[in-house]
Amino acid sequence: MNKVSIAGREVFPIGLGTWNMGDEADKFEQEAEAIRAGLDYGVQVIDTAEMYGDGKTERLVAHAIKPYNRENLFLISKVLPSNASKKQIPICLDNSLKRLNTDYLDLYLLHWKGNIPIEETIEALEKAKSHGKIKSWGVSNLDVDDIEKIIKLPNGIKCTSNQVRYNLGDRGIEFDLVPLMNKLEMPLIAYAPVARGDSLGTNLTKQKVLKKIAEKYHANIFQILLAWCIRNGQTIAIPQSSKTAHVIDNVKAARIQLAHQDLKQIDSVYPKPKIKQPLALW
Ligand SMILES: NC(=O)c1ccc[n+]([C@@H]2O[C@H](COP(=O)([O-])OP(=O)(O)OC[C@H]3O[C@@H](n4cnc5c(N)ncnc54)[C@H](OP(=O)(O)O)[C@@H]3O)[C@@H](O)[C@H]2O)c1
Repeated sequence: MNKVSIAGREVFPIGLGTWNMGDEADKFEQEAEAIRAGLDYGVQVIDTAEMYGDGKTERLVAHAIKPYNRENLFLISKVLPSNASKKQIPICLDNSLKRLNTDYLDLYLLHWKGNIPIEETIEALEKAKSHGKIKSWGVSNLDVDDIEKIIKLPNGIKCTSNQVRYNLGDRGIEFDLVPLMNKLEMPLIAYAPVARGDSLGTNLTKQKVLKKIAEKYHANIFQILLAWCIRNGQTIAIPQSSKTAHVIDNVKAARIQLAHQDLKQIDSVYPKPKIKQPLALW
């Protein structure tokens, strides 16, 4: 299994997404258990955001992680673009920390590009870092032109990650964004890595080649999707599931090392992009 290097840490390559979790009171304990099942299997990265459930998701995460050693975890939260100003970032960050019941985030991301100048956002994020409230910062949903702009700005090179949509049905970023991020040694955080339970229209779970490969590894197709996603050691996949059994399946996918010939077969049915494609969003 390839661990991924991020913000000076080596972390388990599969993390836990939390979008749509923590919203419903009657599912709260079940969802906390699902998160804990992942942590018990070695997961470190938990991805959340101030936007998710208007803060309810961060509270769920706080509840779930209570019995665990904070230092082993790698907590990510995100600030909304409309809050990414010098004035708002310290307030929103403190609110996220309070809801998460922690003193610091391992990574704080700008959720997507907004109207506040990115220079101002970077300055505020660096300030938060100097106060020890975040260990690192990064961005989400940004394409090549924005990353190239950021790295030329003062402290821009400290951008630690870019979180974007990436799965077998969405390989567009391999054309230019992934090569750029690899060159910058900026790990990718892949959201929607199981194509939202195969609901994004690419019918991955019906694909014969994938079915065959899954059989070969005594795995299910979602596990193959995840093993494919993290195959290069520079990607952390953050599948979301509210079901303990699915979380355990997902985490176990980190053990699957797809053989070269299987990767080639996958390429033949889901080819790498040959031209620039718009970034897949949400
Ligand atoms: N930065 C951004 O703008 C952005 C955007 C979207 C998402 N994200 C982050 O990325 C995370 C993951 O993305 P996502 O939630 O959109 O999509 P995803 O992880 O690809 O898919 C989640 C869906 O897949 C199902 N699923 C997961 N594992 C499964 C398995 N082993 N077998 C069957 N079904 C399975 C889940 O249902 P069950 O609960 O039934 O398992 C859930 O409905 C989010 O939770 C969030 O933290 C970030």
